[in-house]
Amino acid sequence: MTTTSHVKKVPIHLQSAQNRLLIKNGRIVNEDGIAEGDIYIEEGVIKQLGRNLIIPGGTRVIDARGKLIMPGGIDPHTHFEMEFMGSVTADDFYQGTKAAIAGGTTTIIDFVMPRSDETLLEAYMRYREKADPKVCCDYALHVCVTSWGERQKNEIKELTAKHGINSYKLFMAYNFALRDSEIYQLMDTCKSIGALTMVHAENGDVITENTKKLLAKGVTGPHGHELSRNEEVEAEAVNRACVIAKQVESPLYVVHVMSQSAAQALNQFKINNSELKIIGETLAAALGTDGSHYYHADWYHAARHILSPPLRPNKETPNILMHYLAEDKLHLTGSDNCTFTAEQKAAGKNDFSKIPNGVNGVEDRLYVVWEKGVVNGIMDPSRFVAITSTNAAKLFNLYPQKGCIAVGSDADIIVWDPNQTKTISAKTHHHAIDFNIFEGLVCHGAPEYVIVNGRVCVDEGELKAVQGYGRFLPTLPFAPYVYGTDDDIAAVEKKRLHSYENELTLDHLNINNGNGPNAQEEVIYNMPTLPNSSVSTPIGKAPRQEGQRNLQSSSFSISSEDPDADDRRSCIRVKNPPGGKSSGGFW
Ligand code: URP
Ligand code: ZN
Ligand code: ZN
Repeated sequence: MTTTSHVKKVPIHLQSAQNRLLIKNGRIVNEDGIAEGDIYIEEGVIKQLGRNLIIPGGTRVIDARGKLIMPGGIDPHTHFEMEFMGSVTADDFYQGTKAAIAGGTTTIIDFVMPRSDETLLEAYMRYREKADPKVCCDYALHVCVTSWGERQKNEIKELTAKHGINSYKLFMAYNFALRDSEIYQLMDTCKSIGALTMVHAENGDVITENTKKLLAKGVTGPHGHELSRNEEVEAEAVNRACVIAKQVESPLYVVHVMSQSAAQALNQFKINNSELKIIGETLAAALGTDGSHYYHADWYHAARHILSPPLRPNKETPNILMHYLAEDKLHLTGSDNCTFTAEQKAAGKNDFSKIPNGVNGVEDRLYVVWEKGVVNGIMDPSRFVAITSTNAAKLFNLYPQKGCIAVGSDADIIVWDPNQTKTISAKTHHHAIDFNIFEGLVCHGAPEYVIVNGRVCVDEGELKAVQGYGRFLPTLPFAPYVYGTDDDIAAVEKKRLHSYENELTLDHLNINNGNGPNAQEEVIYNMPTLPNSSVSTPIGKAPRQEGQRNLQSSSFSISSEDPDADDRRSCIRVKNPPGGKSSGGFW
């Protein structure tokens, strides 16, 4: 299979009256504001936005009064049916994308992991063949570069030119890590073809030595995993990757930033080198749980939290990383969904370094980010949209087809009910494993409807995903948000906003220049403090930096019948700050 065609014919039996859909009375949340209006969808695309739309008879109507209408989540980091550490991940492209949709994610980007005897092109073809017939939602691919030479250099040029790949991941750890000189050359090649280099940043040599020492001392249990690769080991590699990117003058995307030290290293480098595009991704796992689980008495419980870089035992880490996201010091969230069964994890019963690395997250990412970010008062719904959807679309050149609600965009939409309560549990999730790292987490907010390319795939909470309904999304090089000038970016934004100007006024969008009638209203705003903080955080009261969004730029309030809601509300209900609202955002 060599096609990169975006348009896959939808079988007749999947076409129905659902082709036409009107979502009424909701509040439409984009990364740059909240508008009130209706959305008319036809043939999988948003056709009209506004009030009093004229629509054909027979159109299904969803009343979204009291709900938020947001772009479907884009998970930039999954590993479905991946061969890794002697196992194959349990969630395949069907089960994985079904779980994604159940939680409001409507696009995933998976990683092609080549076998040791395979070319990158062969690995890509193999992934297309396994994913295309199974995916329930649209998907794109990154390609992992696990060895380096002339052959790989030519292959990635071909993958980008002909096969819709605009991102490559390299590893600084594992037995397929690249050396610094190879990293330099890969970054150089990616830059020349307009692709984005992604890096797994951990110091592999240090981990190998630490592991030998720990095992020799008899430390064989899961907690040895984190001891062998602590925060410094992650932060050193983040800094080194940034240093190499600077020499090459290449953009860099650091995947799964898991610690305060690594986030600080990334941010410090960014501050010192503002001309460089350094992007930081963190994970639902890092935001929703922590490394204290490695010390759990039950070996399986501990082993089932193992991923790399590891969760950190510092209980403040999730909150600190969430503040980094709110302040645009980290830029997006993935899941790194990489599930293994208990039997698979048991491969490391006597040696923590043999426990297959990976946890769940694709289903629960939005719940976790909403609960820990929005309900806890750290960010507003627009920033939630940015870090769960829009920024991924921009970086991988899928925007504005994906990642926003605009006329002409794909109808990937969630109708989010902030008044629903859901407790995450392996008993009710849709993964192929019987364990969930977020077990018992009570979340206030859930998707009532999830619309995938115009089809209602979660309908009043009921999952109706369709195998094979998703399409492969070729990603084109030289994404404006990675390689473009400010003018290039402005041109993309102008095109998107134009669709509103026809239907909704900018006033509806809550974007004003600070001179509007509300500009001087009092700010009602409580930034929560870190409870029982044992670490000093530089972020709590730091002055707002350029491009940073905080709650003062929101007019959002959670409305709820829930008696506890007032507490949550007090953190969230805000008015315009003096100086007006910011469109916040991404660089
Ligand atoms: O532990 C992890 N993260 N497993 C998946 C592979 C990777 O490095 O992303
Ligand atoms: Zn990785
Ligand atoms: Zn991963």
